[in-house]
Amino acid sequence: MTANMETQVGIVGAGPAGLVLSHLLHKEGIDSVVLEQRSRSYVETRVRAGVLEQGSSDLLRETGVGARMLAEGAVHEGVNLQFDGERHRIDFATLTGGRRITVYGQQEVVKDLISARLDAGGTVLFEATDVTPNGVDGENPSITFRHDGTDHVLGCQVVAGCDGFHGVCRGAIPTDVLTEFEREYPFGWLGMLASVAPSTDELIYAFHPRGFALHSLRSPELSRLYIQVDPHEDIANWPDERIWEELQIRLASPGWTLHEGPIVEKAITAMRSYVCEPMQFGRLYLAGDAAHIVPPTGAKGMNLAIADVTILARALADWFHRGEGSGLDRYSEHCLKRVWRVQDFSNTMTELMHVLPERDPFASRVQRARQRYVATSAAMQHTIAENYVGLPLA
Ligand code: APR
Ligand code: PHB
Repeated sequence: MTANMETQVGIVGAGPAGLVLSHLLHKEGIDSVVLEQRSRSYVETRVRAGVLEQGSSDLLRETGVGARMLAEGAVHEGVNLQFDGERHRIDFATLTGGRRITVYGQQEVVKDLISARLDAGGTVLFEATDVTPNGVDGENPSITFRHDGTDHVLGCQVVAGCDGFHGVCRGAIPTDVLTEFEREYPFGWLGMLASVAPSTDELIYAFHPRGFALHSLRSPELSRLYIQVDPHEDIANWPDERIWEELQIRLASPGWTLHEGPIVEKAITAMRSYVCEPMQFGRLYLAGDAAHIVPPTGAKGMNLAIADVTILARALADWFHRGEGSGLDRYSEHCLKRVWRVQDFSNTMTELMHVLPERDPFASRVQRARQRYVATSAAMQHTIAENYVGLPLA
C-alpha cells in the first residue's frame, strides 16, 4: 500500500537546517513536511557544537523559539586564545560594537525547534527510511519514503536537502553539474562532556606543542572539552585519566586551575572542509552540512546552516507569495559568498591552533609568527572577533 501526501516544501533532515527552515516557512504561512531517518530521542540527545553567533541567536529569539536559550544559554563577550600558557582575550564587545555569542548546545536548539514545530501542528516524521528525492529537475518533484511500515509519496513543489554530509539529497545533483572542493586535515578532535563545573567563564582555545585543546561549557555543572588527536585514533586508547592528564598539560596557564570530574560522553571526529557547488539543482536546494562542512575550530557549522535556511526561506516566500523567483535562482550564489568566508575563517583558526603533524619547519615558523601577531595586533584581534561573532547576513 502506498500513501500519498502533499506539501509545499519537502524537507529532508531534522537537524538545525531542516528544523529552522520548517519553522521560518511556517512563519511565512508556507506548509512543509520534515522527514528524518533517526528517532526523535536520537536527534535530541546527539551531542554537537554549541556556539550561536549573534545573528543566529537573534533569529531564534525574534521568531519565537528563543525562550529557553535566553534562560539557559550563556552569553559570552569574548574568547581566550592561548599560546604556550599565555592567554589572550579577544574582546568581542569592544571590537565588534557590542556583538556577542551564546553558548547553548545544538541538541537544545533542536529540542526547542521540534517542540515548536509540533506545538504549531507541523509535521516532523521521525524514523523515515529509504528517503529518496525524485524528479527535482521537473515541475513536480516528490520524495518517496517508508514510515510505520507503509510506503509514502510526498508530492511537493520544492525539495530542501537538509540531510547533513552523509545524506541522500546531494546525490540527486548530476555529477557533471556538481563541483566538490575538499580538504581533509591530518587530525581529529576527541570531544567530551564532563560532569564538573567549568573552570572558565569564557572559552579557551589553547595551542600547545603536544596539540590543541579547547575548554568550552554547557551549564554551571557541565564542561565541554576537546583535544587534538590523530583522526584514526581508537577511543579505547583514551581512558579518562589519560584525557585529564593531557588536558592539564595543554590548558595549563599560570595561576589557573583546571577542575576534573567524571567524563560522561566522549567521541572522536575527523576534521574536514568541504563545499559543493552549486547548492541547487532544479527544484532541489541544499542547506547546511548537506552542502558544506567546516572544521569545528571556528564554531561555525550550526551558524552556517541557519544562515543558509534564512536565505532560502526568504527566497521561497518571494516565490510562493509573489511569484518572484530571482532569490531562488540566486540562492546558491548568495549562500556561497558566506560559505567561503566562513571556510577561510575556519581554516585559518584550525591552522593557527593545531600542531601540524608533518612538522614542516617553514609552516611551523609561519604559524608561530601568526600566533604572535594574534597576541599583539589589534587589527588581527578585530578580524577574529568580527568573524567569530558572525558577519551580518548580506
Ligand atoms: N533521510 C532522512 N534524514 C536523513 C538522511 C536520510 N537519508 N540522512 C541524514 N538525515 C538526517 C540526519 O539524521 C540528521 O538528523 O539529516 C539531519 C542532518 O542534520 P545535521 O547533521 O545536524 O546537519 P544540519 O542541519 O545541516 O546542521 C549542521 O550539524 O553536524 C553539525 O557541525 C554541524 O553544527 C553543524 C550542524
Ligand atoms: C562547543 O562548545 O562544543 C564548541 C565550542 C567552540 C568550538 C567548537 C565546539 O569551536
